[in-house]
Amino acid sequence: MSDDKTVSTPDTSGSTLTKGSTADGDVLLKVTGLQKHFPIRKGLLQRQTGAVRAVDGIDFEVRKGETLGVVGESGCGKSTMGRLITRLLEPTGGQVEFEGKDITHLGVSDLRPMRRDVQMIFQDPYSSLNPRHTIGTIVGAPSSSRASSPRAG
Ligand SMILES: Nc1ncnc2c1ncn2[C@@H]1O[C@H](COP(=O)(O)OP(=O)(O)OP(=O)(O)O)[C@@H](O)[C@H]1O
Ligand SMILES: [Mg+2]
Repeated sequence: MSDDKTVSTPDTSGSTLTKGSTADGDVLLKVTGLQKHFPIRKGLLQRQTGAVRAVDGIDFEVRKGETLGVVGESGCGKSTMGRLITRLLEPTGGQVEFEGKDITHLGVSDLRPMRRDVQMIFQDPYSSLNPRHTIGTIVGAPSSSRASSPRAG
């Protein structure tokens, strides 16, 4: 029996989260009501006149062994969602849980151990991928460096 799901975000951006499930298991990542609103400021006093609701209420879970594909038009909030999950951006609202731990508002030092497990490969291949290496070497680098440098403590 197939366990594939399609989850539509509730905003008007038109993005779609498509989950291709291969295995049942523990929830690795749980995102609840995630929001990011960027303020729009105008005038000499830079008063806030509105907000870009880049991410406006996303809910999904990813279990161990699952792969989640996010598809949507340019500007619908895919990269912002990635930055929120990796905590490169501070969410306006909602919650991100990784391995059962609420990481939504963790500080830099508390996030450090998680950085080994949650990473982002940026979209621009010229800035994110070194042409001297194969894709296999680049994608495998975090796990091989992890294997060769055991955690302190
Ligand atoms: N730092 C920021 N300040 C203000 N607005 C921003 C900021 N970052 C993103 N946005 C806006 O948020 C919206 C979502 O942008 P985002 O980059 O997440 O889209 P995307 O789905 O990744 O697009 P693409 O497919 O082109 O990469 C856009 O309207 C964008 O202009
Ligand atoms: Mg993007």
